[in-house]
Amino acid sequence: MKKDIGSVLALYPTPAVVVGAMVDGKPTWTLVAHVGVIGHDRILVSLAKPHYINAGIKETGALSVNVVDEGILEQADCAGCVSGAKTDKSELFAWSAGADDAPLADEAKLTMECTVEDVYDTKNFDNFICSIGHTYADEEILGENGKIDYDAFKPVLFEMPGYTYLKTGETIAKCASFGKARA
Ligand SMILES: Cc1cc2nc3c(=O)[nH]c(=O)nc-3n(C[C@H](O)[C@H](O)[C@H](O)COP(=O)(O)O)c2cc1C
Repeated sequence: MKKDIGSVLALYPTPAVVVGAMVDGKPTWTLVAHVGVIGHDRILVSLAKPHYINAGIKETGALSVNVVDEGILEQADCAGCVSGAKTDKSELFAWSAGADDAPLADEAKLTMECTVEDVYDTKNFDNFICSIGHTYADEEILGENGKIDYDAFKPVLFEMPGYTYLKTGETIAKCASFGKARA
């Protein structure tokens, strides 16, 4: 038996990312899990309007999306617990400037440097539609074919109903493998 539990946002788990941007010449970091893929060349980063980081993203048009793994989870959680409006988060991560001037978290093993292409405005959220200019990946998470190996990287996922972080990193099967046999 299935129960209709109403209009529930059930598209979890989603990856946890730390978004970095410059505000008043200093980096700031915010934890975001409402992210998505749009087509093959855009991503979505959904940020509540009152957040401190939004003004920097709007002003510079540049942001970094640092994908969280367990190695940076504690810092990432901190980036989600305090606002830059009250606490300076500029030293939460060691950082380097990217090719497009977004701050990149050095400890993150995988970072996309993005440019804002559009903002889809909803009542309480700035939904940034971004292109990806550069992707910086630690060699230890790259396979022999040069592609990101998610069994090696193991990004952390987030789910809202239990408000928890989840593990990844266990392959079930190659896509379009057992399905083909059944078709
Ligand atoms: C696990 C987790 C996920 C979060 N995801 C989002 C999100 O997707 N969008 C958002 O606007 N805030 C999200 N937040 C809240 C912000 O990270 C938090 O309010 C932060 O302090 C805002 O920082 P800022 O004001 O310095 O930008 C999340 C927080 C946590 C702990």
